[in-house]
Amino acid sequence: MKVIAFNSSPRAEGVSKTGIMLDALVEGMRRAGAEVETIALRKKKINNCIGCYTCWTRTPGVCVHKDDMTGELFPKWLEADIAVYATPLYFYTMNASLKALIERTLPFVQPFITRVAGRLSHPLRHNPPKAVVLSVAGFTDPLIFDQLSGYVNFVFRNGLVAEIYRPGAEMLTWPEYARTKESILEAVALAGCEIVQSGKVSPETMERITRPVGDLDSFTAMANIFWQSCIREGVTPEEFWERNMVPRPDSIPTFMMVMSRGFKPERAEKLNAVMQFTFSGGVEGSCHFLIDDGKIEAKEGAAAAPDLIVESSFDTWMDVITGKADGQQLFMEQKFKTSGDLMLLLRMQELFGRP
Ligand SMILES: Cc1cc2nc3c(=O)[nH]c(=O)nc-3n(C[C@H](O)[C@H](O)[C@H](O)COP(=O)(O)O)c2cc1C
Repeated sequence: MKVIAFNSSPRAEGVSKTGIMLDALVEGMRRAGAEVETIALRKKKINNCIGCYTCWTRTPGVCVHKDDMTGELFPKWLEADIAVYATPLYFYTMNASLKALIERTLPFVQPFITRVAGRLSHPLRHNPPKAVVLSVAGFTDPLIFDQLSGYVNFVFRNGLVAEIYRPGAEMLTWPEYARTKESILEAVALAGCEIVQSGKVSPETMERITRPVGDLDSFTAMANIFWQSCIREGVTPEEFWERNMVPRPDSIPTFMMVMSRGFKPERAEKLNAVMQFTFSGGVEGSCHFLIDDGKIEAKEGAAAAPDLIVESSFDTWMDVITGKADGQQLFMEQKFKTSGDLMLLLRMQELFGRP
């Protein structure tokens, strides 16, 4: 079986969630014996269809454009048994690069109009490959794929073999969800095997692919402080991660999340401690972290018997954890108060590092 897989994300390998999901699918297809070629559309030149109908009239079946679609992709698409269309969800549907490719497949039909099974259509010049559609989205609600799904079901009709949709895809690269990501990608690879072996994806595999990653309210809260931090610092998401920056919490729950993300379990082996933070100023209240032999649990409110208490204005401490201020210097200047085991304070950076 020959498969051609198009990835229309403009993002580079390793960063693109479409790419991460597609790689797993392709790996599964290859495992099942398929010959697969993956094509990153961002590296190809595909002009928009100009609606001249030259491919229907003067040069039947041949497009007027001279670009990668005419020269390479269209012939490969026609030869394939299955085409995988992988796209990030943009404005609730496929992105423009993939749509441009699909529009440029027009030469595969003839201009005549016929009615087949009650529906107007064009007679085929060539049999198109069967279709698999894969998409990823930022939002976590599975309903966001409804428009794309409606479209591809209409366009590909009986040729549509499978739809693989992953909501909340940006969370796939969050370190705290590494294990969930692994399980999702295993399921996507299994879907690839199933498509090649049986021409469909089982409901159990689909359920594993679409299962929620993490708590949805936390996702929204983290996403919002992340974007707020990018705007505040004037950096793009890529620059943010490259510079190892820390999203600035705006509440006690987001502080608890950021600290938990930054926690380095391997540096806390055999450590048993309770750290409490009591904030004043713009955000008031307490929370504490229970550290137990490489595990961390964050809880709102004061602890019964904390080993260390840090009392600080919320803004000051956020300056410390985002690297805007030097904790040691602020300590000397008594900009925050501590009580209890000061060794824990000294180990703070080692234990939490940069999230
Ligand atoms: C122009 C644009 C439009 C987007 N539209 C949506 C959308 O309608 N719904 C959604 O959930 N995410 C939307 N997103 C987010 C992407 O789908 C999401 O970040 C995805 O993981 C990107 O995949 P990639 O890493 O493969 O490029 C949009 C992103 C961009 C840049």
